[in-house]
Amino acid sequence: MNIIELKQINKFYGEGNNRVHVLKNVDLAIEKGDFVAIIGQSGSGKSTMMNIIGCLDVPTSGSYKINGVEVGKMDKDQLAELRCKTFGFIFQRYNLLTNLKAVDNAALPAVYMGMDAGIRNQRAARLLKSLELGDKLRNKPNELSGGQQQRVSIARALMNGGEVILADEPTGALDSKSGERVMEIIKDLHKQGHTIILVTHDSHIAAQASRIIEIKDGEIVADTRKSSEIYEAAKQPEQITRSRIDALKYSFLESLGMSIYAILSNKMRSLLTMLGIIIGIASVVSVVALGNATQEKIMQQINSMGTNTIDIMPGRGFGDRRSGRVKTLKVSDSEYLSKLSFIANATPNVTVSGNLVYGNNTLTATLRGVGDEYFDVKGKDIALGRIFSKNEVTNAAAVAVIDDNTRNEVFANNPNPVGEIIIFNKKPLTVVGVTEKDNSPGMSSESMNIWTPYTTAMYKINGTNDINSITVRVSDNINSQMAEKSIESILTALHGKKDFFMINTDSIKQTVETTTNMMKLLIAGIAVISLIVGGIGVMNIMLVSVTERTREIGIRMAIGAKQADILQQFLIEAILICILGGFIGVMLSLFIGWAFNTFSEDFGMIFSTASIILALGCSTAIGIIFGYMPAKNASNLNPIDALASE
Ligand SMILES: Nc1ncnc2c1ncn2[C@@H]1O[C@H](COP(=O)(O)OP(=O)(O)OP(=O)(O)O)[C@@H](O)[C@H]1O
Ligand SMILES: [Mg+2]
Repeated sequence: MNIIELKQINKFYGEGNNRVHVLKNVDLAIEKGDFVAIIGQSGSGKSTMMNIIGCLDVPTSGSYKINGVEVGKMDKDQLAELRCKTFGFIFQRYNLLTNLKAVDNAALPAVYMGMDAGIRNQRAARLLKSLELGDKLRNKPNELSGGQQQRVSIARALMNGGEVILADEPTGALDSKSGERVMEIIKDLHKQGHTIILVTHDSHIAAQASRIIEIKDGEIVADTRKSSEIYEAAKQPEQITRSRIDALKYSFLESLGMSIYAILSNKMRSLLTMLGIIIGIASVVSVVALGNATQEKIMQQINSMGTNTIDIMPGRGFGDRRSGRVKTLKVSDSEYLSKLSFIANATPNVTVSGNLVYGNNTLTATLRGVGDEYFDVKGKDIALGRIFSKNEVTNAAAVAVIDDNTRNEVFANNPNPVGEIIIFNKKPLTVVGVTEKDNSPGMSSESMNIWTPYTTAMYKINGTNDINSITVRVSDNINSQMAEKSIESILTALHGKKDFFMINTDSIKQTVETTTNMMKLLIAGIAVISLIVGGIGVMNIMLVSVTERTREIGIRMAIGAKQADILQQFLIEAILICILGGFIGVMLSLFIGWAFNTFSEDFGMIFSTASIILALGCSTAIGIIFGYMPAKNASNLNPIDALASE
């Protein structure tokens, strides 16, 4: 039975004037189990024919059948499968992968077959032992002699069964003794039932085959049969067919291993490639963390203005020059507002500057007349004593709460001034409480604040019922913007015109939030540019890597790697570089954050898990996007061209 049938095969190389006719109408049938030697002078087309038989190359015209199946109709993956399962290649220059140990080199075809790693390595070791390489399993090709390397490549050819062994000048690079040894092995394989096709220009070697085909200028000129020894395969060469899932899995693991190897064997280059990604990711994450910190700081500041409160001030706005003098707000406004259902309470505020006298000390201070809820609304905590009560507000009691600064300035020698009497603008006030030191930003640490009930400030100290502002606290569950609108229309109706303006802490909060979010987005967007630049760097290096390893790609394809396997290998490498870069970038930015937070008090970078996950996702995406093109290039290589590259 013919395992190989070539009919009217023609092969041309080149185009136009350079077009050469290398194989001319070749008809050839090779019987299963035969041992055929192809001889001819250099340049006669032996290798070309061999490569067509081994499905590494395609003929320009003609029909080629393996086991009766037309090869010309197969796609690239089916050809890869044929190379993987049916053929075993032995090359003149061994073509082992230099970074793999002997056993891994021999086992490689089984990886693409999907053979279990354990079984695979056992089988490779057994094959190598049978070729007297039992003590060289862990050696890399450069630690082996030429003859030993050729035996490793024979083991590799047999790994998946090697029904048809294609040997192109297997002894060409060997000394005569090693060459003889290799020929012994090949003759043995013939006896075990393998079909052998051997290319040589040495008639002495050809003489050991059963059939000798001579080829000259692309034509078969002689076909002599010396013996008709056909050996039945003692046992059918092992066919190790695995599920597609296993094949995917082992090919993935192989790719992962190779990628890690490739990255580690070019450490400096990998690191430099990653640098763009590292810087990009670190800046994105840090910028977001800084943005978070800024936002939080501003929020703190706004929160110290009170929660869910609306301040109503006289005048048209902060810029209104008259606003200090206009007194359009009245106590009655406040009283009116406090009766509204959507308002929890409203208190007038009165600000009086004046002299504070205690003992021989006279100081300038600001006194604020406020309601009893003021401390709660503004989030001011009491360190000593108490705040004044509702009753005291109603009765305009002569009591005062002072802040920490005032205590330090006025009562330097008295840590607990509760019960002491101070004189403000000639009016005595009993100190009933001291507030906690205020750390919120924007609070000048030098200003001294004294709070009394607004009634006291108005009637007892100022002597008028002018007020400076009204603080309204909106009831819970009421939308503060709605409340603001209602208050505006009510007060406008009461006054006959809008002679006031309002500050709604909620609106400010929202504005600040949207502004800082936009700033974060903007700066992060700029940082993303560096990520793109980094991605281009990765793409560049991957292109170099593919070029450098073209021969490796050719070898892998020759022993059965599919396009997808090659694509995957380079894609994984690119993704790995990017993920690693992303990881280092995140670490770097955490380190920056740590250093920053150690040196800066009360302002710390805040890292969000979301930004870190996003950053890692980004770097993976970059790996895929920028790694795809080089990987695709690699997988599109023609096996024979790739093999021929240096
Ligand atoms: N990729 C190619 N492009 C153009 N011409 C080619 C290509 N490959 C081979 N050839 C030409 O085809 C002819 C046959 O080459 P081939 O490699 O088959 O020769 P060979 O018989 O194997 O020779 P050798 O004994 O030196 O290995 C040669 O003339 C060679 O120049
Ligand atoms: Mg050749």
